[in-house]
Amino acid sequence: MPTPLPALAFGGDYNPEQWPREAHVEDRELMRESGVDLVTLGVFSWAWLQPGPDQWDFAWLDEQMDDLHAAGIKVDLATATASPPPWLTQRHPEMLPITHDGRTLSPGGRQAFCPSSPIYREHALALCTALAERYHDHPALALWHVSNELGCHNARCYCDVSAAAFRDWLRARYDDDVAHLNDAWGTAFWSQRYDDFAQVLPPRVAPTHANPTQQLDFLRFSSDQLLDNFVVERDVLHRISPGVPVTTNFMVMRQTMEMDYLRWGRELDVVSNDHYVIAGEEGSHRELAFSADLTRGTAGGRPWLLMEHSTSAVNWQPRNRAKKPGEMIRNSLAHVAHGADAVLYFQWRASRAGAEKFHSGLLPHAGTDTRQWREVVELSRLLDSVEEVSGSTARNEAAILFDYEAWWGCELDSHPSIDVRYRDRAEDLHRALSAQGVGVDVVHPSADLSSYKLVVVPTLYLVSDEAAAAVAAAAEAGATVVVTYFSGIVDEHDHIRLGGYPGAFRDLLGVRTTEFLPLLEGESVRVEGLGDAAVGADTWAEDLELAGASAVATYVDGPAAGLPAVTRREVGSGSAWYVATRLDPAGTDRLVEHLVAESGVEQLPGAGADVEVTRRVGDAASWLFVINHGGAPAAVPVHGHDLVTGRDVAGDLEVAAGGVAVVREA
Ligand code: GAL
Repeated sequence: MPTPLPALAFGGDYNPEQWPREAHVEDRELMRESGVDLVTLGVFSWAWLQPGPDQWDFAWLDEQMDDLHAAGIKVDLATATASPPPWLTQRHPEMLPITHDGRTLSPGGRQAFCPSSPIYREHALALCTALAERYHDHPALALWHVSNELGCHNARCYCDVSAAAFRDWLRARYDDDVAHLNDAWGTAFWSQRYDDFAQVLPPRVAPTHANPTQQLDFLRFSSDQLLDNFVVERDVLHRISPGVPVTTNFMVMRQTMEMDYLRWGRELDVVSNDHYVIAGEEGSHRELAFSADLTRGTAGGRPWLLMEHSTSAVNWQPRNRAKKPGEMIRNSLAHVAHGADAVLYFQWRASRAGAEKFHSGLLPHAGTDTRQWREVVELSRLLDSVEEVSGSTARNEAAILFDYEAWWGCELDSHPSIDVRYRDRAEDLHRALSAQGVGVDVVHPSADLSSYKLVVVPTLYLVSDEAAAAVAAAAEAGATVVVTYFSGIVDEHDHIRLGGYPGAFRDLLGVRTTEFLPLLEGESVRVEGLGDAAVGADTWAEDLELAGASAVATYVDGPAAGLPAVTRREVGSGSAWYVATRLDPAGTDRLVEHLVAESGVEQLPGAGADVEVTRRVGDAASWLFVINHGGAPAAVPVHGHDLVTGRDVAGDLEVAAGGVAVVREA
């Protein structure tokens, strides 16, 4: 029978079909040397498994499964449906995706299929079924891996098949009544009124801005179509291979917004995520930490698997900086610190051919006599020594609300300023909270907020009445709530909430904004009142009146000079703060000092701007993770046992510059 996933699994994508047999023997030897215990097999092997319409070749995969099992390595087996083989698209060019400006995307790269194509689905399910029937009881099998990064290159397809599927989706959403669609889409504007669903199209390239609600619904539809591709394969796997968990790898990172992973997470047996740091970004580990907390949010707080990241450079950013010595270990451990129960990479052996030959792997082109390989082995040993954290998770007192639909709405065209980016405030507030030792859960606005002392609502442009009420209820019940600009502006249909901004939160916050005053590119203003010195701000200002709140900070200059920039109102036994501008990092730090002090959230010991400290909690123990991203040693007043060094610590842990520690707390 299939066996469970290894605790804190270590390994990565394994593509033996790219290499001659001799390499496979060496692979298994080196996997053993480096402690690899889980590999993802077959992700892009459709053309190998099914070389023609009625031809199947499982011999090579049988051999791999058996050999890996003999070597004690578990398999995350892909359903291999991510990239259709050339014979399929040659026979059915109608399954190719079409862009919003009408270009057909050709095969020759990967993922060349329309997510709504019935032909694609029929063939994908046949392959998925064949694999499930063949391997469901293989002893190496630990996990099923549906497709790969659904939507990575084909998230939105505008072909006629997609258009018909979109219309079906709209009929279901709008009770089969086109009048409801007209209301929701505000089609009285620009003569867009429909009298039949048959007239409705995806938002293809148009003479000017497409209807925003049409765009928003198309994003919802596209995410749902991709999720459906997961669900149909998952159901086949559950039926034929019961008891083996099913996942598909998310792409929770700043670069990816197309899939509503906070909804998707509920459909997976175990969430897995791929994360790639933004090369060359100063402090890229902060985006990693935010994404990892968001990934835990998609998993409903449970442990998740880091399915892919890179040992060093990738090949798809404009300039692919290599990681510095020690950086891979810090990156990998940071994911564990935020709740990952596996550390896997793309990919085992760096390819010698193909579009990813310059992408790093666990085994570099230069072989094992390299610093990179030595670090891989070192990391694997380190993970062995902290294995006991597996199964534990984080429980925090601060929450950041995050919603992919709000992201989509916020970044649509025809808005007051292109500089308002959805993740921007969330990431900076997360950074400032982390620097002050505050652990954060990143959760959907519909989550239960009752246990949080601090609730952060950044740029929640689109919000439902229920979510807005839940935020207000959290403040009433004693939480400190903070809302930032461009929140609560529209309802689910992207219709403005009237009566003054920020509509959905106006009463809670006790403010009323009559006009947005976005700043020009490069323009900044000063804000005083958050500390001794004035701080800087840019991007945004508002013509804001107090309506029950008091001003905490005021604009010194700029279009809103003299008006409130940060406000606070007492609400029930809590409070509600509003931040009407984009504070610079120093300003955000000052703001967060106030919020932390007022809310009384726990601050973990030893944290700082460059020292990441998180806690995982299990049934009988808790562990403090310390990751020192800085250039100076960090002092952490913790008592317990450091699993990394194997030494007891009595309130005086010193973590070297660039070093890490995992302390089982006394
Ligand atoms: C992911 C993908 C992998 C590989 C990797 C490179 O998007 O799942 O197959 O392409 O990126 O960074």
